[in-house]
Amino acid sequence: MSESITPRPRVAVAFHSGQGHTAVLAEAVRRGAEAAGADVAFVPVGGVSEEQWEQIDAADAVVFGSPTYMGGASSVFHGFAEATLGRYVRKAWADKLAAGFTNSSAKSGDKLNTLNFLAAFAAQHHMIWVGLGLSPGWNKTTASEEDMNRLGFFTGAGAQTPADGSVETVHPSDIATAEHLGRRIATQAATFAAGRAALAGAAPSAAAAPVS
Ligand SMILES: Cc1cc2nc3c(=O)[nH]c(=O)nc-3n(C[C@H](O)[C@H](O)[C@H](O)COP(=O)(O)O)c2cc1C
Repeated sequence: MSESITPRPRVAVAFHSGQGHTAVLAEAVRRGAEAAGADVAFVPVGGVSEEQWEQIDAADAVVFGSPTYMGGASSVFHGFAEATLGRYVRKAWADKLAAGFTNSSAKSGDKLNTLNFLAAFAAQHHMIWVGLGLSPGWNKTTASEEDMNRLGFFTGAGAQTPADGSVETVHPSDIATAEHLGRRIATQAATFAAGRAALAGAAPSAAAAPVS
């Protein structure tokens, strides 16, 4: 009997959230990734411990999340990004998968700038960006605000929560969309791990099944 050489994918969710809205999305990404078979490290980036840095370093995929503040990522997230300079120089995260999510109070609120920044940040680290992988929802007369990807992003998951709302007001569609992103990144991480193992000469016998 051959042994599985495909380990559970390791996903890190590295995010900032000021009032807790983006944290609800981060939890959804975690649930989705775990449902797809990943081990997930959950890392609020306001004060990253040495153990948490090691968890990110060990991850196959990192999902970055930030609220949109002043048309971009928050200063706390930028502080985290700048603290990765040594890893950037060493190319410590090269060829890991990456994905991103954001939340803001306006339907647009210039969120795309935040997702684009997260993608550029990943590219600077030589990471491989994984887009949302959902068609836009809520874009036909027959469509509904309850559709997945109701705000129609491709680059990552974009959510809208009223600025004065509690964490209970994060929209169910946005939560489902973030869960989808978590499943997707875990599935892609497993696929990459299996492919790399195959290229290294060992045929994976039990690659994680794709999750739709
Ligand atoms: C300093 C600051 C700047 C903000 N800038 C924007 C913005 O550019 N666009 C927008 O739609 N909302 C903006 N907001 C609203 C937040 O994006 C929104 O309240 C979000 O839900 C906060 O997420 P969080 O609870 O994870 O911090 C801003 C909020 C703050 C505190």
